[in-house]
Amino acid sequence: MTTATNSIYMVTMSAPTNIAVIKYWGKADTHYNTPINSSLSVTLDQTELRAITTIAVSKQFTKDRFWLNGVEEDELLHSPRFRACIEGVQKLAQDHYDAQGNLIYSKEDWKHLHLHISSYNTFPTAAGLASSAAGYAALVAALCQLYHAVETFPGEFSTIARQGSGSACRSMYGGIVAWRQGTPKQEWRDSKAEPVLEDWPQLRALLLVVSDSKKDTSSTTGMQTSVQTSMLLQYRAQHIVPARLQAMEQACHARDFGTFAQLTMQDSNQFHATCLDTYPPIFYMNDISRQIVRIVTVYNSWAGELRAAYTFDAGPNAVIYCLEQHQQHLAALLCHYFPIPKGALSGLDTSSMALEESLLQA
Ligand code: DP6
Repeated sequence: MTTATNSIYMVTMSAPTNIAVIKYWGKADTHYNTPINSSLSVTLDQTELRAITTIAVSKQFTKDRFWLNGVEEDELLHSPRFRACIEGVQKLAQDHYDAQGNLIYSKEDWKHLHLHISSYNTFPTAAGLASSAAGYAALVAALCQLYHAVETFPGEFSTIARQGSGSACRSMYGGIVAWRQGTPKQEWRDSKAEPVLEDWPQLRALLLVVSDSKKDTSSTTGMQTSVQTSMLLQYRAQHIVPARLQAMEQACHARDFGTFAQLTMQDSNQFHATCLDTYPPIFYMNDISRQIVRIVTVYNSWAGELRAAYTFDAGPNAVIYCLEQHQQHLAALLCHYFPIPKGALSGLDTSSMALEESLLQA
């Protein structure tokens, strides 16, 4: 190692959240964190809903440390999922040279250098807005940058993010992304994310934050109980999702919003039905979530076509997909039922501010 003792090498990477339209719920293998069915999501890469992770490395550091939203999290740092990400990327590390071609860190050095990792989310953590997806994707992306890691097969980085949090593997790509279930062969190396459609420029996502408090039942715990107790979940994984996923991919390629919307809502409904079928039951949606379902249903039937699609993850917050041409109208309708408190959007990007202003004037 040729670096001075007091030098600090630092990288920062960010990753956006993703919202599934065909849900992952249930693990096939808890050690490798692989799913009982493939899933598909939209990466919200045009938004500020992301995790930003900075990693610093220095010979002066005597131990690894990790801060999440400014609070030191020692337990999480030493959890098997976090270690799997660090060690997974470390295996793919390369020598690091400076601009003059001098070796700064060798592959061997990386193993002995301690990391200081700081990550923050620009949105509520653990409130069902896929914060762990963005968090682990940003962590893996930053580690890859730090270690100058190189994949040995396409999608390998996503297999590492998957071990942090399943849904994180999909945030490693933009656009519409599938997570292929994979097989137990070769330690599930084929359980990885794959881009399906780079972009659907007219597609919009409206996020309705019903509650920003931490959810009662984490996804990891909830899906374990569902796997053990819900027969509906087994049926869904084996007999419904494969054909639905295929239909969804076709709809995305054809940019057929009507089919996309119908499948999205049906899959969200079915995921929450499996939660109810879990014993003891899990309730992620609340009365406001159900009101949102009714408003979207009435809006679509008033329009005479599917113009909006709701979906709910492991929390009461809604994500509504629509096309650009209906976004303003739909947002105004939602604000009629759920008025935005003045200033609630401050701190978000200027397009949100403009939307807030036009809604307040409407
Ligand atoms: C409802 O990816 O958070 O959002 O792998 O245990 O970390 P772990 O679970 P996680 O589960 C996400 C569940 C979901 C559906 C989805 O994103 O596909």
